[in-house]
This record gives sequence, structure tokens and C-alpha cells, in this order.
Amino acid sequence: MSSIRLENVSKQFEGSMAVNNLSLEIADGEFLVLVGPSGCGKSTLLRLLAGLEQVSEGRILQAGSDITDLEPRERNFSMIFQNYALFPHMTVEQNITFGMRMRNEPKSQHRARVDRVADLLQLGELLGRKPGKLSGGQRQRVAMARAIVRDPKLFLMDEPLSNLDARLRTEVRDGIMTLHQQLKTSTVYVTHDQMEAMTMADRIAVLNGGHLQQIGAPQTLYAHPANLFVAGFIGTPAMNIFKLPCRDGVVMVDNQAVHLPDTAHARQLTEVYLGIRPEHIEDDARFTPLNGDDSRRIMLNASLTYCELLGADYLNHAQTSLGALRYLRENRGNAPQANQQVTLSFSLQDIHLFSGQNQLNLHREMQHA
Ligand SMILES: Nc1ncnc2c1ncn2[C@@H]1O[C@H](COP(=O)(O)OP(=O)(O)O)[C@@H](O)[C@H]1O
Ligand SMILES: [Mg+2]
Repeated sequence: MSSIRLENVSKQFEGSMAVNNLSLEIADGEFLVLVGPSGCGKSTLLRLLAGLEQVSEGRILQAGSDITDLEPRERNFSMIFQNYALFPHMTVEQNITFGMRMRNEPKSQHRARVDRVADLLQLGELLGRKPGKLSGGQRQRVAMARAIVRDPKLFLMDEPLSNLDARLRTEVRDGIMTLHQQLKTSTVYVTHDQMEAMTMADRIAVLNGGHLQQIGAPQTLYAHPANLFVAGFIGTPAMNIFKLPCRDGVVMVDNQAVHLPDTAHARQLTEVYLGIRPEHIEDDARFTPLNGDDSRRIMLNASLTYCELLGADYLNHAQTSLGALRYLRENRGNAPQANQQVTLSFSLQDIHLFSGQNQLNLHREMQHA
């Protein structure tokens, strides 16, 4: 068991809080993705884990023992940076064995370990080359090989795909996932790209302004966002969000009454945010709910403003009484037309409701009440 736990960790830089009272646990073998907008504290958190920055407050525990004050090299964590940080004058093999040579590990062990990682990352042919003679994807693989060869307790990856073009990004991403399947080394992976987070993570931790917003499985964050920020950040195309007046626990959605979860907080609200994902909106006029009962669907008249072809779907932009919204519509060959009038509908089961006061999910509040 080698879980890693952050307990009430804060990091302050000259008055600004880069990481604010953050607690989370990385389970043994877990692939945890830290995601959030630029400047939210992701790299700082990774550097705190690596020991490259000192915490201002809080503790870091590994398998129950306090490692808060350990030097980076005493932690046996491996960090992979966005810019690879390879030595240009060394060959691929020398780059990979650099750490072993620095630690004066017996040369007899080098060969077997280099061969193993070269095999894992398909670098066998490249061992004699210098980084200048490698493609971006190959350099990234060398950086990973150098991290893996140490057999670390934890991988720390800071936006390792962001310098690669789109096709290569998919390739290296698949490589990282395959590697994780084989090695099962606990990993903290940082990205600002929520799609990357959704596709790679066992669990996602969403950060904003140094605060942990929510941590959970991708599907949990998608289906049950804890607050308005997570709702808007996770999922693509982004959730439609409308700020609507409410009274006595009822919000009117285009003349259709929707009851808020029955809590003291919800009853005294005068405003709520209603969220509905683009993929949960239908425009099929022939659409008939399964049991013929449409009382649990909201209907909206809408006028299309423009339509983006994504491939399998169109992303349609429409004007409604709630405001502008976007929805996905299957590409059935006939292109939707601007100014076309459509009737949109969505199920009450698919809506998300957030407090106008504290922006927390009203359903979660009810579960926790
Ligand atoms: N060494 C530093 N000195 C002062 N401020 C810093 C330092 N490193 C990061 N910050 C600040 O901390 C905040 C978080 O930065 P960072 O962790 O790099 O964010 P992210 O990786 O999510 O983009 C930012 O406001 C940044 O300006
Ligand atoms: Mg960063």
C-alpha cells in the first residue's frame, strides 16, 4: 500500500494563494488527472508533490508517513515536464541512464533496465541518437523512458502532450495509457484540457483558483457536477446554463413550472442556474416520449441561428425564450437551415440546478442534507 495523501495543503506566493487548503488522496496504482484553467495551481500542486516547492501549510503523507520535508530525490517520484528537459549533447541512452549514473548505480544493471524501457516505449532503434535528431513524439517517449527507468513510486506529469500536434497527441496519449496498464504506477497527470482528463483519468480533480472543486470518476463529474464551475468546465460541447428567477422553490422554465429539490436553502432562493447539456436536447418534432407522457419534458420554441457540422453531429445554435443555446443533432444527411423554426425538448431528468447564492448543485445539497 503506497497511497499518497495531501492534508490541508496550501502554497502562498507573495500574498497570492496558488493552492488553497487542499486535501486529496492518490490511491495506489491510480491515474489521477488534475484539471483546471491556466493559473489555477496545477503545476504548483505537482511541484509540491515532487518536493520542488515547500508547502506553506499542511502535510504530505506517503503510506502514512510524513514526507512533507523530504528532498525531491528522497521521494522516489518521477516528474515528466511539458518541455521534456532532455540533455541535447547526450544520446537517448545516456539521457535515460543519466539518473542511474548520477546515483552511481552499478553499470551491470543499466543494460537490462534500459532494454526493458526501450522495449516498452519502442525506443530500441533510437538509443544512439541525440535529441536534436528526434521528432516531438520520440522526445516525449525518451522523457517518459527516463522517468520510468527509475521505477518510481509516483509519476508526476505536467501537460506532457501540450507541445505535440493533434495526431501525435492521440498517439502519445494511447502510449501513456498502455504503459499505465502495464506498470500500474500511481500517476498524477496535469492538463488544462478536460477532454484529456475525461478520456484518461480513473478520477479527475477539478481545480479553480487554487481550490479543489470536486474529485471523482469522470462519469460522476459529468452526471453530478458539484457546482456551477465543474458543470461548465467538464463536458464538451459545454453545458448550456441559464440564470432564472425562482420563488418558493419553483422556477418557471418558459411557463413550465419546475420544482427545485425541497430544501430550506432552495425555498428561500430568488435565482437559480439551470443547466442542460447540448447532447440532452432533442429537436425531433416526431419525438414521442417512451410512455407517451411528456409531462416530464420541457418544450421550447426555438429559431436556429447557425449550424456547425462536427461530422457525425451538427452543433446547432438556437435562440429561445431562455436565451441562446446549443444542442447536438445527429447528421442525418439533411443540413439544418438558419432561421428554421424548431421545437426543442429535454427531460427534467437531464437538467442540473445550482443555487443562485452559492452556485452549489441543489441536488447534491439535498443528498447531503
Ligand atoms: N514561483 C512563483 N512565484 C510567484 N507566483 C507563482 C509562482 N509559481 C506560480 N505562481 C502563481 O501561482 C498561481 C498558480 O500557478 P500554476 O501552478 O503555474 O498554475 P497552472 O499550472 O494551473 O497554470 C498563478 O497565479 C501563478 O502566477
Ligand atoms: Mg502549469
